[in-house]
Amino acid sequence: MIPKDTIDDIFQAARIEEVVGDFVHLKKRGVNLLGNCPFHDEKTPSFTVSPTKGIYKCFGCGEGGNSVNFIMAHEHFTYPEALRYLANKFGIEVEGEEVTPEMAQEQSERESMYVVASYAQQHFTDTLHQSNEGKAIGLSYFKERGFSQETIEKFKLGYAIDSFDAFTKVATDNGYKTSFLVNSGLTKDKNGKQYDGYRGRVIFPIHNLSGRPIGFGGRTLKTDKKVPKYVNSPQNVVYDKSKVLYGLFTAKKAIIQKDNCYLVEGYTDVISMFQAGVENVVSSSGTSLTTQQIALISRFTKNITILFDGDVAGIKASFRGIDMILEQGMNVKVVLFPDGEDPDSFAKKSVPGELEDFITDNAKDFIVFKTDLLYAETEGDPIKKAQLIHDIVDSITLIPDEISRSVYLKECSRLLDIEESVLISELNKGIRKKQYDSRKKGSVAPEQVSVVPFQQKKSVPNATDEIEDQEQNIVRLLLTFGNETIPVDVDGEMQDVAVAAFLVYRLQQDDLTMINSVCREIIAEFMRALEDEKILEQTHFLNHLSPEIAALTIDLVTSKYELHDWESKLIYVETEEHKLKRAVEGALHSYLEKRVRIMWHQNQEKLKANLSDSSEVMLLMKEQKRLTDLKRKLSASMGRIVLN
Ligand code: GTP
Ligand code: MN
Repeated sequence: MIPKDTIDDIFQAARIEEVVGDFVHLKKRGVNLLGNCPFHDEKTPSFTVSPTKGIYKCFGCGEGGNSVNFIMAHEHFTYPEALRYLANKFGIEVEGEEVTPEMAQEQSERESMYVVASYAQQHFTDTLHQSNEGKAIGLSYFKERGFSQETIEKFKLGYAIDSFDAFTKVATDNGYKTSFLVNSGLTKDKNGKQYDGYRGRVIFPIHNLSGRPIGFGGRTLKTDKKVPKYVNSPQNVVYDKSKVLYGLFTAKKAIIQKDNCYLVEGYTDVISMFQAGVENVVSSSGTSLTTQQIALISRFTKNITILFDGDVAGIKASFRGIDMILEQGMNVKVVLFPDGEDPDSFAKKSVPGELEDFITDNAKDFIVFKTDLLYAETEGDPIKKAQLIHDIVDSITLIPDEISRSVYLKECSRLLDIEESVLISELNKGIRKKQYDSRKKGSVAPEQVSVVPFQQKKSVPNATDEIEDQEQNIVRLLLTFGNETIPVDVDGEMQDVAVAAFLVYRLQQDDLTMINSVCREIIAEFMRALEDEKILEQTHFLNHLSPEIAALTIDLVTSKYELHDWESKLIYVETEEHKLKRAVEGALHSYLEKRVRIMWHQNQEKLKANLSDSSEVMLLMKEQKRLTDLKRKLSASMGRIVLN
């Protein structure tokens, strides 16, 4: 835990223009700065940074936040990671981090492992480009595979000499401890005799998200079937194969921009596709996809496209794994390459742009793909068909989003030529089972908890949206003008009262809480501060620990004309402040009126429904009277408040 004071210091120190400026080229525009949004593709800049407010906002895609939000969004850091990053950048010491000797030990082991991997990566790259064997064997192999010089450098490919212990010797001579070399798989130990883990292999270094080498895949150049084709790093403190995706470091930017991630089988598929201009591609390197890897991708996009080579048995084997992706709420598409082709070979044969076109033209939704593929095999076999229906519905059941599920049911009912209602009842069975299981396990029930799945919700035109708008308007006034004063009639005497105090007390007086929970929380915080005779500042909410509160605040204080154009902002603020009293009272009044009217109607409905319960009726009648009085009072004060 980072202490609260330190967090405050970090927020104080982290000047938004400097934080963003490390990643976005910003130009001065009035009091604000303007640049191209790093979160979506755009040609004319609409990404605005306000140094005075300490926030950024993109008017193209809507992304907005403070310095910490920016680092979290841009670097895909967690909250503490972002704080640490900023603390480091602005020279703030983060204390209170208790480091046990075990942690220190692990930390230093981890650091040593990074250093060893970095050294080895550089060594293999140098060997590839500088040694005779590297050039003659390694480099010519890569060239033969069609990798350009640029690609070879980009992926930091390398070569390990075909010798018993050449690498181990040099590394040890350079002071790298044998234990670290062995743990990283670079050196093998047999009865106290050390030899190289990678001999006569081309090397594919594996990088973590921040671009540090953490492991290696080494491909043999021999055709001898007894020699394993690839040697990969063993599990160690820096390399956990279930949490790593090959190519993610080079691909992450493109994944965000394309909002899609291609998943392929091997190292060479990643590299060839990248060279062919398709950069949003990663590989799970031969192992089956893990939930951690999916979670890793989902930090960048919710859309995965899996590229299969034509091997049907292999595809079927992967179906279970794909269900896992659906379960995490991701959208999955698949592309099947022609028989005998994989992305690597296809990329090599094709002209620029052809690969991308092929993928776009052939991408099929996973559920549809699975249904098609299996349906073809069930022809004339009712038992197989029944099994297939269970199988497909099982996959659909895993999808967390109710709307997506219903779309799939419709589509599959068409594909399988079976009535939708049958699929729906099958699906609901599955959902009920899931709910039951999760209750038994004592875990949280899945999101699909919905009492009557798929019953079309009646679209009652409700007043909630409108009233939430009004609530947000009041909160906006509170956040923007909370410290300003307006003249208010207090017991027959006009007094200057802070807008915050006026609004909060007025809401409290009528015992009205807001519908929107974020608004409610903001009001409650203002109230608590007012009890200590303090008025909270806008920055308190802009930098709020609750992401929902920070997000709403940013939205409310960055209405387009406010941030965009300083001149019009001046006019806007000037006029609004000038008429502040009227604006505040007007907003409050129309909100109260509507809120009370809705509460009155709701209470009325409750009364009708509870007529048999006499004690309940008493309470409801009492509330009804209170609301009626309030309604009357509000309409009586109408003229006075608004025209005052
Ligand atoms: P090329 O045959 O050179 O095109 O390599 P590739 O990367 O396409 O290999 P392949 O399609 O045979 O295998 C796909 C991925 O599975 C590889 O990139 C490796 O990550 C992994 N893999 C393949 N063979 C082995 C092996 O023998 N051992 C291990 N550990 N992994 C392997
Ligand atoms: Mn291949």
